[in-house]
Amino acid sequence: MKVLNLKAKSYRNLAGLEYTPGEGVNIICGENGLGKTNLIESIWLFTGCRSFRSVRDKDVVMFNQPQAELEMEFFSGSRSKTAKLIIDEKRHAELNGISLASGRKMMGEFTCVVFTPLHLSIVKDGPEERRKFLDIALSQLKPNYAKALLEYNRILSQRNATLRAARDNSAYLAMLDIWDEELAKKGAVIIDNRMRCLENLKEYAYPAYDEISSGKEKLTLRYKEYAREKAEGREEIYQSLINALKEKRESDVDHCTTSIGAHREEFSIELSGKSARKFGSQGQQRSAALSLKLAEADLIAKVTGEEPVILLDDVFSELDPQRQKYVVSRLQNRQVFITCCDEENLVHMQGLDVKVERLEQITTE
Ligand SMILES: Nc1ncnc2c1ncn2[C@@H]1O[C@H](COP(=O)(O)OP(=O)(O)O)[C@@H](O)[C@H]1O
Ligand SMILES: [Mg+2]
Repeated sequence: MKVLNLKAKSYRNLAGLEYTPGEGVNIICGENGLGKTNLIESIWLFTGCRSFRSVRDKDVVMFNQPQAELEMEFFSGSRSKTAKLIIDEKRHAELNGISLASGRKMMGEFTCVVFTPLHLSIVKDGPEERRKFLDIALSQLKPNYAKALLEYNRILSQRNATLRAARDNSAYLAMLDIWDEELAKKGAVIIDNRMRCLENLKEYAYPAYDEISSGKEKLTLRYKEYAREKAEGREEIYQSLINALKEKRESDVDHCTTSIGAHREEFSIELSGKSARKFGSQGQQRSAALSLKLAEADLIAKVTGEEPVILLDDVFSELDPQRQKYVVSRLQNRQVFITCCDEENLVHMQGLDVKVERLEQITTE
């Protein structure tokens, strides 16, 4: 996967940008507030996933403008393709001149892995961040996964609405059987995929962490069921979800919320047996997040047969020389975008095809 050309219009503070990156490592430097993260974010949006910075699509539209326009030429599957995103209240996408039903339909067409200081939240923050990490990787690997997740969330809110109704009127209790069945069915698809994705990530994340930390600690990732029997495979997971939903029904009705299921589960990140979230140092947490991100890139490459584009926003210059060296060793044959304030912080780039540009040079207005 390679970005050949990118145009942005009225995208956050980028009024007009035309950018032709190199095939290898692209270093984009410039002072704070110039729009480097905005540029990284604009590339990311072509994955079909939501921005890593904001929830609402329209946040990326330049203040007082009706819409933002992005156009990208990229190389994928041994041919060049063109994608266009028009963003107003929501995203409209076009691929090779053909309009797609939604921005999400770009999933799987353009793959990339992004790592910014915000992504430290995968290690430092609550379960939602770890679920999101797996969901984003899976959405790029299996475009149908994102659809299943949307359906799961829809069923979940319908079940919760029925719980509220059942608290006041027991006639609604009978309807819960149907929602339990639907929720367990979709939940089993989500959980089975997440468990298998985590298994596959281990294969790459463990050796990566070993290298980054010089073998000082050992990384362990473990899927965590929540308030249900351990299970493996779609059918077994379905059964354990059905049992747990039944067991929790009374308290779920009392609290008007679904207390178990895919929306509650996560995975733990441990360093030599201790929670990285609770006990890891800043450096250890950063190394764990970096290992997960590199593993995500390796997995995408293995499954799709094509190296994803790598976006490193404001993280590379924060790494110590040993970690920088390791990351560089993993950048061969990949197109990479690295942002920084001062290119002098970036050493160890020898042997790579590096193109350095100042952001001012690629903004046209
Ligand atoms: N919707 C928007 N319209 C116009 N400017 C925006 C919008 N959203 C963010 N910005 C501006 O973009 C700038 C930040 O860009 P950013 O990419 O974070 O900078 P950098 O990464 O180079 O430090 C800020 O000045 C911010 O005010
Ligand atoms: Mg930035």
